[in-house]
Amino acid sequence: MSGEKAQLTALARRFGTPLYVYDFDLIRHNFEQYRRAAGTTDHLICAAVKANGNLALLRRLAQWGSGFDVVSGGELERVLMAGGRADRTVFSGVGKTRDEIDAALRAGILLFNVESEAELDLLAERAARLRLAARFGLRVNPDIAAVTHPHIATGLRQHKFGVTLALAQKLYLRPRPRWLEPAGISFHIGSQILSLAPFARAAARVAQLTARLAERGVALRYFDAGGGLGIAYRPGQRPPTIAAYVGALRTALPPGMSLLIEPGRSLVAAAGSLLTRVLYVKDSGRKRFVIADAGSNDLLRPSLYDAYHDIQPVIPRRGARRVVEIVGPICETGDVLGRERRLPPLAADDYMVIADAGAYGFSLSSNYNARPRAAEVALEGGRARLVRRRETSSDLAAADLAEPKK
Ligand SMILES: Cc1ncc(COP(=O)(O)O)c(C=O)c1O
Repeated sequence: MSGEKAQLTALARRFGTPLYVYDFDLIRHNFEQYRRAAGTTDHLICAAVKANGNLALLRRLAQWGSGFDVVSGGELERVLMAGGRADRTVFSGVGKTRDEIDAALRAGILLFNVESEAELDLLAERAARLRLAARFGLRVNPDIAAVTHPHIATGLRQHKFGVTLALAQKLYLRPRPRWLEPAGISFHIGSQILSLAPFARAAARVAQLTARLAERGVALRYFDAGGGLGIAYRPGQRPPTIAAYVGALRTALPPGMSLLIEPGRSLVAAAGSLLTRVLYVKDSGRKRFVIADAGSNDLLRPSLYDAYHDIQPVIPRRGARRVVEIVGPICETGDVLGRERRLPPLAADDYMVIADAGAYGFSLSSNYNARPRAAEVALEGGRARLVRRRETSSDLAAADLAEPKK
């Protein structure tokens, strides 16, 4: 048995399944790639917490010098709990509440990425009330189409994100309330994008706007290019390298501005796997179903976006491969992990490994069907460490107010 197979089997036995396993060394390598590619350009890498908000991971990222991109008060709290710094954190999202804005102001957030005129008004009001400076950037929607799944494209006018370039210009140039400081500009055109061209086009459009604003006396400091770089989930997919991606952003970066990048998927996806155990194999109609103990509550991406994750038995059995449907135990027809996969024979209690599950895996997981969420393990320097224990039914009931039956 190869070292990797033996390790995965040992982890599954020791911690149970479903189990998320993260290679922290690979995440560090990816983070360093970003840093190296940014080189001498003034920059800050702000890891997107939504992709993976595990506290041990956030702690490591903070130790490595990462900043963060958060989209809720809860994510900001997690960053602070993990030792991350608010003055290295940007706050994005279309629906920030007054309480979330107040908490971020009090924490001293680096930049609010504001997504509407009404949000800018509320930010001005809260900053004045609290007498705290609010550095803001407008999230602009550069109206650039990127080839990705419609649910994760964000950079077109029809999407709810950001404001148009024209409205952004108007808002930057309007008389400025005392506590509001225009400090940056941001854009994010979507996720799992596999070519450089849309990034380069969007960055060039936003750079043109910053030049027009500078001519009219509004000199912005932060050029926040969002995230969005894709990874190879399927054989044959060839995403640009981190170096090429950052190179394209550096080319577009207006002189004197500081580059912020908010990578999520490209930092953590390939460093995570979901280990699962086969519960049953059954033939039904013309299909053979392999029923796993991980379901769409553990990994939602295949049901939500028809996303593809490679799935393999940890230890392949001998025998002819055949096409199977890999499904979970959830009471939904859409609870599918992998459709039409040609795999070696599988039997109950075999372990399978679902690849590239480090981003939008655990963070999108839920307790649907009253299922406790999976445990998470970090691999670092050859050692395995439990970084989140498996939830229990008591965790799930903790916020319920009904009296449990004695
Ligand atoms: C504003 C913002 N920044 C960064 C990200 C991270 O994107 P990705 O995981 O594609 O790098 C997202 C994801 O949707 C986002 O909405």
